[in-house]
Amino acid sequence: MDSICVTGGAALAGEIPIAGAKNACLTLMPATLLTDDPLTLTNAPRLSDIRTMTLLLQSLGAEVSALQEGRVLALSSHALDSHRAEYDIVRKMRASILVLGPLLARHGEAEVSLPGGCAIGARPVDLHLKGLEQLGAVLELKDGYVHATAKGGLRGGRVSFPFVSVGATENVLMAATLAKGTTVIENAAREPEIVDLARCLRAMGAAIEGEGSDTITVEGVDALHGATHQVVTDRIELGTYMLAPAITGGTVECLGGRMELVESFAEKLDEAGISVEETARGLKVSRKNGRIRAVDVETAPFPGFPTDLQAQMMALLCTAEGESHLHETIFENRFMHAPELMRMGAEIDVSGGTATVRGVDRLKGAPVMATDLRASVSLILAGLAAEGDTLVNRVYHLDRGYERVEEKLSACGATIERVSGS
Ligand code: UD1
Repeated sequence: MDSICVTGGAALAGEIPIAGAKNACLTLMPATLLTDDPLTLTNAPRLSDIRTMTLLLQSLGAEVSALQEGRVLALSSHALDSHRAEYDIVRKMRASILVLGPLLARHGEAEVSLPGGCAIGARPVDLHLKGLEQLGAVLELKDGYVHATAKGGLRGGRVSFPFVSVGATENVLMAATLAKGTTVIENAAREPEIVDLARCLRAMGAAIEGEGSDTITVEGVDALHGATHQVVTDRIELGTYMLAPAITGGTVECLGGRMELVESFAEKLDEAGISVEETARGLKVSRKNGRIRAVDVETAPFPGFPTDLQAQMMALLCTAEGESHLHETIFENRFMHAPELMRMGAEIDVSGGTATVRGVDRLKGAPVMATDLRASVSLILAGLAAEGDTLVNRVYHLDRGYERVEEKLSACGATIERVSGS
């Protein structure tokens, strides 16, 4: 298994191109199931999660080709021959549940394995299922699979989520495009990935209003057609690389970055003493004079501070002056990076959903273990700032969500390399 070795100490300077959003692409790809016509996605990220979704769609009979070195995905569902998403693929990636709504809408039938446990918490799919039931789906749980049918097709309905779920909003939104009548989704997620999905579905002929607000209205249509859609910039990759110069003390321009994607995150950086400037090509980030200041952070659905940047922010705050508090409100078990950061000399107390970080002058390199996707990159960021070498093990988590991390960081002067394991 590969590891990544980082030697800390160099201030970073240069530019980093930001890829298309993994989480947007993972919901745009299943949208192919809604039409016989071709769907083309440009600006796709080259990640193992995208390959997993490719395998899942291919197992249903969809054609998926990666063109231009994986930057463009050409998808077609004109010859689907299965409506069953097998456990072997679904267990690898929770986002697999996103095929449920589109399969059901198009074929009136779907069988999707339940995703099972996940390192960052229980993460059930009850909201996805209840939402689809509101559109007339009949569901049965059998042998670890959800068997869903909608004889005569789905019908529009009112879906009011008790709390915000990105995936459940996406599943219901896709299903509603082909349902008979009007669907109103209340307490919908407002993430940029939802807005991107709605834009793509609209280009495919769907009638959608209100995306980006907490109420989305969908007027069902008889059929969708093909489209070409550019995947939105990855705001989590953007935020992660914004932290690289913040933590090392340099200046990096994140190409393709836009402030509206990371507003609440950039506000916290400003409080911590990091300047973020909009340029013609993206966002330029540099550390103002002096030490990082401690800040308090609470994760929340968009437009709040993203849970997917909490681990990386913690890495920054490990060397801040004073005591920071990070409140995790989305996932119940998302501090597994804390003990690894402590192996590097960080002072962190975790109690329930709150981590208290007392800043130290300098972190020290150590062998550490990546426990999930965002945790793994937080350890790389910490390694960039630490004295000596940090060896991050189990980097397959990293490859799920970050393309060519070593290349992007070494182009800005970081000493980082992949060590191939057996
Ligand atoms: C998506 C993102 C993930 C991000 C998360 C929150 C993708 C592929 N993944 O995940 O990177 O961390 O949004 O921004 O886009 N929940 C339930 N029942 C459900 C669904 C969710 O209880 O049916 C809970 C979850 O356990 C969690 C919270 O709701 O505590 C929010 O989860 P959700 O927004 O659904 O996250 P995902 O769509 O899985």
